[in-house]
This record gives sequence, structure tokens and C-alpha cells, in this order.
Amino acid sequence: MQRVGVAILGLGTIGSAVAQALAVQHDLIAERTGLQLVLRAVFERSAERATRADLDPDIIATDLATVLTEDGLDVVVEVLGREQPAADYMVRCLDAGFHVVTANKEALSKHFTEIVTAATNAERAIMFEASVGGGVPLLVSYRQILATNRVTRLRGIVNGTTNYILSQMASAGTSYTDALAEAQRLGYAEPDPTGDVEGFDAAYKLAILASMLSGRHVHPDEIQRTGISGVTSQDIDGARHRGGVIKLIARAELDDGGALALSVAPEFVPNDELLAHVHANYNAIEVVGDRVGPVVLSGQGAGPLPTASVILSDIVEAVRTGVAANPAFPHG
Ligand code: HSE
Repeated sequence: MQRVGVAILGLGTIGSAVAQALAVQHDLIAERTGLQLVLRAVFERSAERATRADLDPDIIATDLATVLTEDGLDVVVEVLGREQPAADYMVRCLDAGFHVVTANKEALSKHFTEIVTAATNAERAIMFEASVGGGVPLLVSYRQILATNRVTRLRGIVNGTTNYILSQMASAGTSYTDALAEAQRLGYAEPDPTGDVEGFDAAYKLAILASMLSGRHVHPDEIQRTGISGVTSQDIDGARHRGGVIKLIARAELDDGGALALSVAPEFVPNDELLAHVHANYNAIEVVGDRVGPVVLSGQGAGPLPTASVILSDIVEAVRTGVAANPAFPHG
């Protein structure tokens, strides 16, 4: 059976869940795919996190160079979060000849061209399904649609934390502060939840989707962004009386001239729309193609288990498909 050496960069909420999932799912993945995934190295500078993860101390490294010289390594999972050093580390791993799997929407959305080009030049895969939509296998479908359609519109809920907060405020009358604390406890929120509640996280994800759609690097700064910190319980009650709910909606619209209008903002969504019924940490994204029409994908958009599930799938896909899995970017 083919052995696949895996390294994890970062033992935060997602990194620890991936390490645990590798141990728990090892036999099932081997049976289903013929690949034996073996955790060979972990980069983590915090001694406390390393101890808490309960891994063989011999595989923990505190510098990237040690990880990159590990024997039998094939795939690096980057789950450090934030822009740097994550973006530089991804490029270094690709240059060193490893496939990279990431959940890091901030680093990817700000360095999309650099990272995808490094992967393609090194003839290695860059897999980022977990960076948009958490556990929803969104990008695999999105790529298929993009290959044969002119996608004119994207619209959806792409942040689990804010959707959880808005859902709890609407359904249980929970205060904004309590709902945010619960989202943090459940592992939905970013280490600094400002990224969630002010719409940055949703903008990073929309920038990745828009870059894939347009074939140029759409930087998150190009997106008009409003978060949910200004949404009050009165706004939510008002929406209920009007027959709907408030959701943080990310949207991209392509006009006939090829210009993209991009925004992230709280919007009123009437109850007769599917998005009004997407609750808790769930995400849902509607993609409209000129041939396929509207396609809606939904599932748990945040949380360690669903995210780790998609990361394991990406490891398998990176080994099976290699560089051919990369987005054709920029479009030639
Ligand atoms: N903080 C993110 C969210 C995690 O709430 O959606 C998943 O990207």
C-alpha cells in the first residue's frame, strides 16, 4: 500500500483536529483509497499546544527547515492561520517539492497568484477546499461549473460564526455577546473574532471565489465590506415582522462587460428564500452558471470536525491528482 507522509503546520483548533482525524480515520482512509496517511512532522512553537495535542514529541519541530528535511514527506497541511508567515511557508513548502493543503483563507486570498504560481511551477498541488465553506465540498463543484459555464453570480453565507450569532439572536433571543462566546467555545470563530464579525473572513473567502471566477487576483480590499457588529436585536425583530431574517451575505455579480461587483454585508432575506433557513454554523452558497443555472451547496461551514474532514479529502486528492488539481490561474 502507498504510504503518504504528512506534516501539519500549526496545532490550533484545526491543526489538532487534523492530527486526531489522521489517527482515527487512518484505517478507513487506507481501505477506501489505498493510501496510508502517516503523520511525520508537526511545526508548532507553543510547548503548551504541542503537549496538549498528545503526539509523539519526536515529530514536533519548532522551525520549518526541520520539517522540510523530514524523510518520506509528501504533503504539508498549513493551518497556521493569518497572513504571515503562513503565505511564505506555503511557497517554501511548494518550492521544496511538497503538495500543500491549506485552510488559510487570509494568506491565500492576499497571495493567490504567488501561491498558485509556485505550486504550478513546482508541479505540485495546492489544495484549499477547507478555506471556503469549511466542511462543504464547494470548490470541487465550483471548479466543475467554472470549467464549462460563464458564472454570472455567486451569493451566500460563507461565515459560520456570524451565521451562528445571527441565528441564536433570532431563534433563542441570545445576546450578541453570549452568542459570540458560544461560537468561540465551539471552535467556529477565528483566534481574533473581529475577523468574523467585521466581515473580513467572509471577504477573504469571496476574494478566493472571485479570483477563480475571473482568472485574475481579486484582493479582499476590493470587496465592499460591512460586518454584523452593528446589527441589533431590534433589527432582528424588525426583520421577523417583515417576514424574514438578517444574514451576512457575500455576493459577486458579473456584468456583461466583465466587471465584478463584490460585497459582504448584512441583508434582509425573506423567509421564502432558501438562505433564510440556513442556521447555526451552516454555510450555503448559490452559484449561477449560464448553462447549469443555479446550484446551491450547503453544510457546516465552520468547526474542527467538518474542516478536518475536508482537509483529509484534500490530502488524498493532492496525492491522486497532483498539479492537475490546481486552478488554471491566471486564465490563459
Ligand atoms: N471562522 C470561520 C467561520 C471558520 O466562522 O466561518 C471557517 O472558515
